[in-house]
Amino acid sequence: MRGSAYSRPGCAPGATSPAARPLGRYLRSPAGANLFLLHPNSEAVACRPERRAPGLAPFAKRGKTVIRLPIYMDHHATTPCDPRVVEAMLPHFTETFGNPASKNHVFGWRAEEAVERARAQVAALVGATPREIVFTSGATEGANLMLKGAARYHRSRGDHIVTVVTEHPAVLDVAAALEREGFRVTRLPVDGEGLLDLADVERALTERTTVVSVMWVNNEIGVVQPIAEIGRLCRARGILFAVDAAQAVGKLPVDARAASVDLLAVSGHKLYGPKGVGAVYVRSGQPRVRLTPEIDGGGHERGLRSGTLNVPGIVGLGAACEIAGRELAAESRRLLELRERLRRGLLARVPDLRVNGSLERRVPGNLNISFARIDGEALLMALREVALSSGSACASAAPEPSPVIRALGVGEDLAHSSLRFGLGRGNTEEEVDYVVDLVAENVPRLRAMASGAARRAAD
Ligand SMILES: Cc1ncc(COP(=O)(O)O)c(C=O)c1O
Repeated sequence: MRGSAYSRPGCAPGATSPAARPLGRYLRSPAGANLFLLHPNSEAVACRPERRAPGLAPFAKRGKTVIRLPIYMDHHATTPCDPRVVEAMLPHFTETFGNPASKNHVFGWRAEEAVERARAQVAALVGATPREIVFTSGATEGANLMLKGAARYHRSRGDHIVTVVTEHPAVLDVAAALEREGFRVTRLPVDGEGLLDLADVERALTERTTVVSVMWVNNEIGVVQPIAEIGRLCRARGILFAVDAAQAVGKLPVDARAASVDLLAVSGHKLYGPKGVGAVYVRSGQPRVRLTPEIDGGGHERGLRSGTLNVPGIVGLGAACEIAGRELAAESRRLLELRERLRRGLLARVPDLRVNGSLERRVPGNLNISFARIDGEALLMALREVALSSGSACASAAPEPSPVIRALGVGEDLAHSSLRFGLGRGNTEEEVDYVVDLVAENVPRLRAMASGAARRAAD
């Protein structure tokens, strides 16, 4: 690129200058020949070499297109905060900094107004009324409140909890903790597509069951469970139905009331909002949902979650929900096209792949693939220009193969070789094509290396 209008001293060409930034996600050179893709974290990557992974170039070229590296394709682990969300949050750090619990002055009233606006925005996205929303620090706290809260409150009525083997640790670890307290836990299997069989759910329910916990969307394979059907089964028996919807809200239409859900956990940072904030939907009306709170203190959030409210975070969560609701349909179509481009590209160019999980019942931005005869960690290293995951982010330090992939009936070797591609708002067709090229170049090379090593070991 000849035009230096977009470069800064010390920055690689194409880095955003303040003057160029308003042009949006794409920058064209003055001649219109080169296309520069702007990723949300591109400035840090382009301008701060010390932050870059060793040996990583800041840009790659595909034909006339320059792509900023690294590419973020791990939107299930977290999402960048949408700049519109940040803008909405900013005044609440310095101007409207009041405590919403301060009832005697305008600083408190303004903060309370902001919180109540956010409560309505969150409620609107999940089919709830504002009164049914309790703010938390995220979906992990949400799962603790839903499961421990419901199980402990109803202990005199029953001691049995039902969940699923493919749940996130935020639920599975809570279930295990409750087991240590003396509760009985049934963990249901899934089929080869990662989906629950309703007959299994029905069979598991007993007179002593008080809570059923099923995630709406799986964080590794993106499959969508039959939530409304399970909700109906639970409602008919007076059993509370808790749903971890961290990977669902903002990615597909969620209507908690219509799906007969009693409790539902949301996480801000999974939908382009801030980290450390979330919400739980607690259904109102009859029969009443009763919970034992996890955090006691000043009685905030109708006594269900004490502690001074994180006003900027809550405002950010509200703004993220409003944006998600407005853009969900168009964004889903766009992500589905990108996902299919990625899937078709990989299937056409790389032999011996296995797509993990149902393709029909799946959120648009997820693709999980096992690459036969390769170790997933080795592949991740080879693809280090792309931020991907070899399992759930929370568990990726563990050397064990993903329990979610194992639950599909996949052998240990294939489970070890699975990668999760998480497409999101920042990704483009050019990035997808680049990733396909990179995988297609590296997989045969790694397979050849692995078979060479195996031959040498056998000699
Ligand atoms: C399905 C699911 N549930 C719960 C969580 C935990 O959410 P948070 O980070 O808000 O605690 C995550 C995050 O990885 C998730 O993917």
